[in-house]
Parts: sequence; structure tokens; C-alpha cells
Amino acid sequence: MSRTSPALGQRAVWRAPGRVNLIGEHTDYNDGFALPFAIPAGVTAAVTSRPDETLLISSIQVQSTAEISMPDLAPGAVTGWAAYPAGVVWALAELAGERPGVHIHVDGDVPLGAGLSSSAALICSVASALNELWQLGLSPAELVAITRRAENDFVGAPTGGLDQLASLMCTRGHALLLDLRAGTADQVPMELAAADLAILVTDTREQHSHAHGGYAERRAACLESARLLGVDALRDIDITTLPEAERRLADPVLIRVTRHVVTENARVLETVELLRAGRVEAIGPLLDASHNSLRDDFAVSTPKLDAAVDAARTAGALGSRMTGGGFGGSTITLGRSGDVPAIEAAIARSYAHHGYRPPRSWAVQPAQGAARVD
Ligand code: GLA
Repeated sequence: MSRTSPALGQRAVWRAPGRVNLIGEHTDYNDGFALPFAIPAGVTAAVTSRPDETLLISSIQVQSTAEISMPDLAPGAVTGWAAYPAGVVWALAELAGERPGVHIHVDGDVPLGAGLSSSAALICSVASALNELWQLGLSPAELVAITRRAENDFVGAPTGGLDQLASLMCTRGHALLLDLRAGTADQVPMELAAADLAILVTDTREQHSHAHGGYAERRAACLESARLLGVDALRDIDITTLPEAERRLADPVLIRVTRHVVTENARVLETVELLRAGRVEAIGPLLDASHNSLRDDFAVSTPKLDAAVDAARTAGALGSRMTGGGFGGSTITLGRSGDVPAIEAAIARSYAHHGYRPPRSWAVQPAQGAARVD
């Protein structure tokens, strides 16, 4: 792995998962609510001290190794996937001062560009491992700030915090209610198997990226709406003040993005109420409504996402929606366990019928967030 032998004990290994967002999409950067859970797929990062100033970044999945001198680390100095771990080192060095070199070696199984937060799994595993190696004692909340800085300011992806919070703080058997304004994260029990339910993830294999394009445009539209309405964030509008807000926003695009964010925040809270009441099967219509809002109002769905959702609904799903930022990526479908094979087959048939590349579907249960690997 490394070109030099590290001193004993100067190695730390952490694993952090990808996530699906059960509901609460494009609400995080509007100070709103979201409800992700961790998935079993993740990234393991092994970090090893080096006796020089070199940062080496390698991966089991990628042939080439990135190499840069630590003092040269600056936004733009590393490109491609290695920019994510490099951004973490940069953000930690800004916070805690210069450190000696390190070798970061990663191994991951979150599909890339599938909207399942492979990037959050990567940066959160690296940040957690470096936190231990460098004995920084950072809390999960401080690690969230570091990983967001890495992604926003080093990589240049203007994402909103949901993914990093999920990867660092989710626990097995729970979804995580995030209140992005209050900065709180509450565990909400979600026992699917006990209720004879399953969530099917379908990777449309339409790759997406949030480092450019539509994501930043939607985010800018939300900020513009909030500015025109004279509020700090769209979180400050709720269902009762929405009609008045819509009247004041003349631009139809701004009206639609605002409507999505306001109604989506309400759907997150309704979903949490149902989960807390043990009524998982009853959240289906909320998942459906979320997808329809993302498709019709927020305009971030695609024909491939819609085809997967439509096929799942026709085949008896309790609810189905795109998950993540959109413009490709994955859908999630809630169904009775016994119906899942038929739903999966129906999605595959629909893709074949449309002439799309075969999708990949698999069932998930809420998994554990970042954890040390012994
Ligand atoms: C991406 C971003 C998140 C969030 C979602 C949409 O996953 O990384 O911060 O904005 O899109 O909910």
C-alpha cells in the first residue's frame, strides 16, 4: 500500500456508508427537513502516516495513484475522484494546522453517480479515519462541517449537507430526521422487515453529478425566491403562508420551486409522524407525492426515473420516488416483501420496452453510519 513503512500504530481504518433519502429532497439547503437512512454499501478508508510531506491517494477500484505535496494542496490542485479525499485533508489542515504526509487508501462498493452518495461515503470515511489518526477529537457535527467544506469549497459541488449528515450519523434500523436550521438529527425507528415491507433501490444507471448544472440552478432559484419573499430561507414559508408567497412571486419557475420545498418539508414531518406511530406502510402516498412534486414542480426528474417509478406503481408498490438530487441516479420503492420480485421485474421490463440500459435493483434495510474498522 504505502511506499514507506509507517511507525507502529499510525494507521486508522473507518467505513462510512452511502445513503438513500427516504423523503425531503432539495430541502437541506433551504434550512428545511430531510429523512435519509444509511444503506449497506459504503467506502472503507485506511489512512497511514508518512514520514514526509506527500499525500498519496489510491483506491482498490482505480488503477492510478494521486500524489501531491501537502503544502501545495489548494482548491483546483487535485481533480477527479481524488479531489474528495484531498479536500478533506485540506479542510482539516485549515482547521487544525499543517500535518505530515499521509497515504489514503480506499475501497468502496457504492455505485458511482447513482445518487446514493458515493462521494459522502468517501469523504466521511476519510475524515473519520484522519480524525483518529491525527487525534483531532472532532465531534460528528464538526466532521460534518469539514466534509461539507471539502465538497463545497475544494471540489466545488454546492451540495447542502444531507449526505454527509446521513453518512456520519445514521444508525441501523432508523431513518434520521434532520432539521437543517436547528442543526438537530433525531433517530426515527424504521423496522421494515418486522412489518413485512422492503425498500427496493433501483439504479437507473443514468449517471448524474452535482458539481455543475441543474443542481446549482435550482439552489440559486430557491435563494432568489427567499430573497424576493424577504425571508432567510424557504423554510420560513409553510403550507398556510404558501398561497400568499405564490401570489407575490410573479415568476412561474420561482413559484414552482417554492411550492416543492414548502410541500416537501410538510411531507417529511408527516412521514415522521407515521413512522413514529409504527405505520410504515402508510407512508407510500407521501413518497408518491414527493416524486410528483420533484417531477412537476422542481423539474429534476428524468424519463428514466419516471419510467422506474411508474412501473413500480403499476406493479403494486405502496409508494415510489426518485431519491437524491435527481437528473439521473436512483429511485426507491416501498413494497410488501412478497411483491418486491414482481416490482423489480416490472421495472426491468419497462426499461427493456423503452430501449433503456438494464437497471440494477436491490432491497435495502436502514444500515449503520460511519464506524471504526478494527
Ligand atoms: C444531493 C445533495 C444533497 C441534497 C440532495 C437533494 O444529494 O448532495 O445535499 O441537496 O441532492 O435533496
